[in-house]
Amino acid sequence: MFSSILCFLLWSAISASRVASHEQQVFHAPTPETHGILRRFIPNDLNHFEEVLDIAKEHDLDIWQIGTESSSHIDIYSPPSSRPLPSALLAIPHSVGNISIVNPSAALLPEDWNLNSLENTTFHMQYHRQSEVDSFIVELARLHPESVTILQLGHSGEEREMLGMKISSPSNKTKLGFVVLGPQHAREWVATSTALYLAHALLANASEPNSLASLLEVYDFHIIPSPNPDGYVYTWDVDRFWYKNRQIVGPGAKCIGIDMNRNWGSHWKPHAKYPLLWDSDDADSDHDLKKKKKNKKEPADPCSHWYPGHRAFEAAEVNNLANYITKVNGVGKGAGKGGIVAFVDLRSYGQMLAAPYSYKCDRMPKDAEDQMEALLGAAQAAKSVYGTPFTTGTLCELLYRAPGNIVDYIYKSASIKYTYAAFLRDTGTYGFAIPPEWIRPVGEETGVMINYLAKFIAKQRGIPM
Ligand SMILES: *[C@@H]1O[C@H](CO)[C@@H](O)[C@H](O)[C@H]1NC(C)=O
Ligand SMILES: *[C@@H]1O[C@H](CO)[C@@H](O)[C@H](O)[C@H]1NC(C)=O
Ligand SMILES: *[C@@H]1O[C@H](CO)[C@@H](O)[C@H](O)[C@H]1NC(C)=O
Ligand SMILES: *[C@@H]1O[C@H](CO)[C@@H](O)[C@H](O)[C@H]1NC(C)=O
Repeated sequence: MFSSILCFLLWSAISASRVASHEQQVFHAPTPETHGILRRFIPNDLNHFEEVLDIAKEHDLDIWQIGTESSSHIDIYSPPSSRPLPSALLAIPHSVGNISIVNPSAALLPEDWNLNSLENTTFHMQYHRQSEVDSFIVELARLHPESVTILQLGHSGEEREMLGMKISSPSNKTKLGFVVLGPQHAREWVATSTALYLAHALLANASEPNSLASLLEVYDFHIIPSPNPDGYVYTWDVDRFWYKNRQIVGPGAKCIGIDMNRNWGSHWKPHAKYPLLWDSDDADSDHDLKKKKKNKKEPADPCSHWYPGHRAFEAAEVNNLANYITKVNGVGKGAGKGGIVAFVDLRSYGQMLAAPYSYKCDRMPKDAEDQMEALLGAAQAAKSVYGTPFTTGTLCELLYRAPGNIVDYIYKSASIKYTYAAFLRDTGTYGFAIPPEWIRPVGEETGVMINYLAKFIAKQRGIPM
């Protein structure tokens, strides 16, 4: 509490943003530790798969992950003291795991962060509230005024100022651009912490272990750690596993939240309420399942978990991000003017590195070969740090068909060739509730992954690094 007031003072010294009015809300601490249950269903055929999804849909259960490729599974989370699951679902074989919701330890004060050193800082020992994320950005800009430009990307649905950082070393050379985006889904905390870690690593003195400073000789980095600030605040104050934004939507304004990662203007669809496993116009779709498909074409219920908005770019935050990309790199015919060559959408969980497309499994980007070569190398590089394996493939193959995805938009409309979604640790033991001790190791292995990608791309373009 004291630290958030302190951060607020620090922050308001720089900008009179309306962030403040939100951060002064009283923090409703969750009870010290509670358990939810994460169940993994491993269906053995498509009918089985669909049965689990149908029950989940009917009872509005919280699906944490669906994997369709090598390890096909559906993870369903039940919060503490929720109603018992339907017996039809419990009858389907599954494994059970405990998810602890731990009350975060008291926040360290910004004056104790010691951001001068990546190695010795206390900052990466904890997850941080939105106010502290903003303070971290301001603090890095204060420590490295020659390298950090604070990006003001526009306001969120609840009028928070969305911040990012452009990190570049002073030089008159033309640089390539590399964008790193934190999680659009608010509950994916480790993706936010990793974006912050990467920013710090880029600014750390090259003599420090894990410094990424050398990349700045060739690249400018654009880092947006918390692109869904309203949702992120909500995960701290009210519901740890909220994932949409907090925009008021639907007829009569009775629902809250758009799934930002279904709201991008690339093959956007209004009925993406449900994973489009077989809701397909592909010629090879499974005929047995056709009869079951018809009711899935209806527009999504605005209150549903998967609500894609009633039009593309309806989410204020998605619109702001798209405007920024357009401003620096152009879209459509003018795309590429800003020299941005790489875009990594940090997410959790699943340890997967995914290339376009998301909207269709049977269409390959024209750059697929180069994209996959870079991706395989990046996965190996990341694994070399702590042995963490990453599965690689297209987003559609690794998950399921989902239209309106950021990766498709950035690749196709903004013409950024090396566009990926990086799903960080783990594979479902902790899920979104990754302990804070993992912030650094995940940051380090992701740093090595980013470093590999940056060097691969520079080499392709004949730039020595
Ligand atoms: C989950 O944790 C609770 C409380 O610590 C414990 O009673 C229960 O047996 C655990 N369940 C599993 C599946 O580990
Ligand atoms: C980190 O702390 C160690 C031990 O006190 C010290 O030797 C080292 O110089 C510090 N690193 C930086 C970059 O300050
Ligand atoms: C960039 O060029 C200007 C004008 O030639 C020069 O004064 C300045 O020192 C250069 N900056 C760097 C970082 O090289
Ligand atoms: C980085 O560290 C080296 C060795 O400790 C030191 O000489 C140099 O001045 C530092 N550079 C910056 C920019 O702080």
